[in-house]
Amino acid sequence: MLKIRENIAKIKPSSTLTINEVSKKLETEGKKIYKFGLGQSPFPVPKIVVDELKKNAFKKDYLNVSGLAELRRLVSIYHSKKNKYSYSMDDILIGPGSKELIFLTQLATESELILPSPSWVSYAPQAKIINKKIHWIQTLEKDNWHITSQALENKCKSITNKMKLLILNSPNNPSGTIHPNLKKIAKVAKSNGVIIISDEIYAELNFNGLNESISHYYPEGTIVSSGISKWCGAGGWRLGTLVFPKELSKLHNVIRSIASETFTSVSAPIQFAAIKAYSADHSDYLDNSRRILNCIGTFLYHKLSESGIKCRKPQGGFYMLCDFSSIIQKTNQINDSQSLCEKILDETGFAMLPGSDFGIAEDQLITRIAFVDFDGEKALEMSAKKKSLDEKFIKEYCNKIYEGTNELVNWLKRN
Ligand SMILES: Cc1ncc(COP(=O)(O)O)c(C=O)c1O
Repeated sequence: MLKIRENIAKIKPSSTLTINEVSKKLETEGKKIYKFGLGQSPFPVPKIVVDELKKNAFKKDYLNVSGLAELRRLVSIYHSKKNKYSYSMDDILIGPGSKELIFLTQLATESELILPSPSWVSYAPQAKIINKKIHWIQTLEKDNWHITSQALENKCKSITNKMKLLILNSPNNPSGTIHPNLKKIAKVAKSNGVIIISDEIYAELNFNGLNESISHYYPEGTIVSSGISKWCGAGGWRLGTLVFPKELSKLHNVIRSIASETFTSVSAPIQFAAIKAYSADHSDYLDNSRRILNCIGTFLYHKLSESGIKCRKPQGGFYMLCDFSSIIQKTNQINDSQSLCEKILDETGFAMLPGSDFGIAEDQLITRIAFVDFDGEKALEMSAKKKSLDEKFIKEYCNKIYEGTNELVNWLKRN
């Protein structure tokens, strides 16, 4: 008789993937959908990296579990600069996406998990799969939707006799904001022996081009997770990285052993191509990616704020949180963030995700939008030709963002 383990029987497919499927289905039925749901990079993988993949398509061997030596060497140099700590290639683990690597880190540690609310959709379900206890820390809009050192201190006091694992993510999904005070967080984490996974998958998409990491203040307790999914447009290639400080090498070795018994190694051609991703100069590509995303984020922030939605100006990546509570009255039809998203999708074709998917209370009318529904290749080409970008650029080259935003604003006016 089929019996599914109780703690996983109720787990649903990741909501970001579900919204994509629903949007595609509505599109095939002939409805115009503005896809502000799934957050994947709109930009193509740089051509030299794609060419490298083609050249290496014949490579067929299983590779070292940790990843190709040359790739790990480059990743260690990259993170030593970014994270201001001297990593060597032996501190790197390459895996099939940072999602899987974060999961293995959760699995390997006998820990309880501290999570900011809101936070990325997959951290909590991963903990639930392995029966790990979650301690939520509520964040506020006024704190940029990030945890404060005081809240972390209080939470740590309430967890006794257990290893504490904290996941931080800046620039952040779902809020698009940067953590305002990592130095203070580091101090509290250090004094309470908290181990941190610093999810830096959007680091290269910080609009100011800089990177502040908790590793700058607490490297010995920080594992940095990243990869090529967001800055290099290669989400579907499935290559992520973990960077361990020497102090956590024991944990690194255990995760490596689990990797050897589960995924073995990341696809060989992808790893050879990733060498190019980490060795070539991508500054023009990245400058233009940031410029475009910054321009769209600023446009959305102004348009949506003017229409009464409470939001913060995105600072990196391609997301923002929208609070509809001061303009939408709750009714029988709209009584939580899920029903709000359904109604807006149905009446305007504007697809977004309910804040409840990210740990925000269901009854709060807060949603997350991802602003990636445009032709990234064309936008990059045109951005490179322009001194500055403005609303006209969005209207011409990111038209679905422009139109979708207007649809939403007009719907708000009618309701
Ligand atoms: C905050 C955050 N972390 C991790 C990931 C997973 O990235 P990867 O493609 O490396 O598994 C995502 C993807 O959406 C993300 O938004």
